[in-house]
Amino acid sequence: MQFNSTILGIESSCDDTSSAIIKNGKIKANIISSQDVHRKYGGVVPELASRAHQANIIPVIDQTLKQSETAVEDLDAIAVTQGPGLMGSLIVGFNTAKGLSLSLNKPLIGVNHLQAHVSALYIEHEVVFPMICLLVSGGHTQLLLVEDHFNYKIIGNTIDDAIGEAFDKGAKLLGLGYPGGPQISKFAVLGEPRFTFPDAKTKDLDFSFSGIKTSLLYFLKKELEKDSGFVQNNLNDICASYQHSLIEMTAKRLIKSIQENSPKSISLVGGVSANLLLRKITQEIGMKNNLPVYIPSVQYCTDNAGMIAMAGSLLFEKGEFLSLDSLPFTRS
Ligand SMILES: Nc1ncnc2c1ncn2[C@@H]1O[C@H](COP(=O)(O)OP(=O)(O)OP(=O)(O)O)[C@@H](O)[C@H]1O
Ligand SMILES: [Mg+2]
Repeated sequence: MQFNSTILGIESSCDDTSSAIIKNGKIKANIISSQDVHRKYGGVVPELASRAHQANIIPVIDQTLKQSETAVEDLDAIAVTQGPGLMGSLIVGFNTAKGLSLSLNKPLIGVNHLQAHVSALYIEHEVVFPMICLLVSGGHTQLLLVEDHFNYKIIGNTIDDAIGEAFDKGAKLLGLGYPGGPQISKFAVLGEPRFTFPDAKTKDLDFSFSGIKTSLLYFLKKELEKDSGFVQNNLNDICASYQHSLIEMTAKRLIKSIQENSPKSISLVGGVSANLLLRKITQEIGMKNNLPVYIPSVQYCTDNAGMIAMAGSLLFEKGEFLSLDSLPFTRS
């Protein structure tokens, strides 16, 4: 698709403050400031997140404009995450975007964070539709049937936790840091998946990840009663097994969705798509089914404003702008 616009993208839905510039569909800068303040609490503390966004947002935007050699006058619009996310976090980015829109007299574009994860694909790929997209993140796990750049429908969804949450909670049970996904995958590459954690029974293409975390909890309890050093001595294998089970549960539903929908391509997006094993297995599924596979490079997988700016470019083409009395929303 051809674009003819310069857009500033702003993302602040959770604990990453980010801004990006996209010119005619090409990312010129994508600055991400991740908040370290949550690490010691083992999860995101909403109040601390909004305060950190407030401190970071203007310096991050300044740096983005400088790095991309963009003057504010060159902007055609300001695109910002409108939701879903944490209200206190969203408000900081959203109000900053509103202020810029008003003072610069440029249109304001509201971006859905999940649509933006899908739009991350269009930064680096010319996509063939219809496409099945597996969206795996900290708050969502969905299978999408993407008809074109603007339309998709949800054909599978988690009935409880998201896969990213299962990674994070599993890591917490193992005494590893936050976010848990990168921690588990770091140890998993050194181990063998010799323990099994059962899949949940769900209907159609739905997912369920709350049971696997409980089965990890009971498994660890039982083994620790026999050997108090079990976790230290087997950490690599436990991580490899837990990761393997999570990915197998996900891949199984992706395969089923391909059989049922005969897409022309498949893709993987969202923070958990940074996981190397999941990337490899998705590529293999594509090869077996003779389908092109699109996966964003890692900087566009976890939360980033590059994907917001790309989604903003699409909405700019459609002329979909927000009025200044619009509000952010917390749920999809
Ligand atoms: N290498 C990895 N392996 C597995 N999981 C990972 C990896 N890297 C990041 N993650 C997981 O990705 C999640 C963060 O993804 P993302 O930033 O897209 O989530 P979010 O924005 O909080 O949620 P949502 O996009 O649903 O609103 C965390 O749960 C984190 O553990
Ligand atoms: Mg996200």
